[in-house]
Amino acid sequence: MNAAPPDIPLLVVEDLTVRFAAESGSIVANDRVSLAVRRGETLGIVGESGSGKSVLCRAILRLLPSPPATITATTLAFEGRDLLGLDEPSLCAMRGRDIAMVFQNPMTSLDPVQPIISQVMEPLRLHRGFSRRAARAAAIELLDRVGIASASARCDEYPHQWSGGMLQRASIAMAMAAEPKLLLADEPTTALDVTIQDQILALLLDLQRETGMAMVLVSHDMGVIAESSDRLGVMYAGRLVETGTTREVFEGPAHPYSRGLLDSIPRAEERVRRLRTIPGQPPDLSLRQPGCSFAPRCAVASDDCSLGIPSPRAVAPGHTTLCRHPERAAPMHRMEAVG
Ligand SMILES: Nc1ncnc2c1ncn2[C@@H]1O[C@H](COP(=O)(O)OP(=O)(O)OP(=O)(O)O)[C@@H](O)[C@H]1O
Ligand code: SF4
Ligand SMILES: [Mg+2]
Repeated sequence: MNAAPPDIPLLVVEDLTVRFAAESGSIVANDRVSLAVRRGETLGIVGESGSGKSVLCRAILRLLPSPPATITATTLAFEGRDLLGLDEPSLCAMRGRDIAMVFQNPMTSLDPVQPIISQVMEPLRLHRGFSRRAARAAAIELLDRVGIASASARCDEYPHQWSGGMLQRASIAMAMAAEPKLLLADEPTTALDVTIQDQILALLLDLQRETGMAMVLVSHDMGVIAESSDRLGVMYAGRLVETGTTREVFEGPAHPYSRGLLDSIPRAEERVRRLRTIPGQPPDLSLRQPGCSFAPRCAVASDDCSLGIPSPRAVAPGHTTLCRHPERAAPMHRMEAVG
């Protein structure tokens, strides 16, 4: 297969909507999400729990069973290929080889009854045509590379014999084995303690620099996104409410929700490093609001905010918001966390 020209984004998502059929009605977990990922770049996706980040990653990889999920999109294309039109064998061939995913919980990708080494060898055999012997050697090298101490001695062990941090490293090794062009990293560090979180993030960024792969890095932590992403998308209640370069959004947030997330980053100068949160709760996704879904929590809302769902508007080239009043998300932040 020919690679797409370098100026065409690797991944293009336009108006992606994911609905789940539920007894109480339909849950709209992703609502007209549009984004693009270019070769080699990192797109950070940030948002509170339940905002639809994992559903977005799974929808891109077509991993959501239907029913209950229904996926529609104007475009869902990888290297110009329509992912919605691919049959299951073509999707299986693409997963891992072109687009790989590191899941929130490593046990989602690891089989508890298979030795770790077999699971890291599989993509090497399947997608890169390695012999058994070569795949074993390469898998041990990968496990070593992701920081598994005594990889050759421990690689024949089973998942239950490894710690959470080791399993997350093994799932990164599996994801990297076929040298994918795009890695979807869904909160790869959330389940781990803070020192391991930093190590795993540094490892992902190192691997990205070495291989040139693009990455969608999902997190609920603006600090993590600031350290690692070129551009970012802020999700709220299934919608991408702001997108732009990380620097632009940090320096001039154009949506009050983004500003709330920025305010929640603990400041080094604060005596008490207390994590502030945004008051209120996200809406029930089965009950669509008539106006802006952030309005009940928005400190700068006005009457017109409930008049219809806001449409995307550009505040600068490549910087869009779903807020009717972007000027109210006043720029209060400096790019402290970004190099
Ligand atoms: N299989 C499913 N059936 C019905 N609803 C679902 C299903 N999977 C996800 N949802 C709903 O979709 C919404 C978005 O879920 P998602 O897992 O994408 O959130 P998230 O942003 O990844 O949250 P977190 O930060 O906790 O991982 C939630 O309201 C969730 O309950
Ligand atoms: S549209 Fe109105 S309610 Fe929604 S975020 Fe903007 S100011 Fe707040
Ligand atoms: Mg999630």
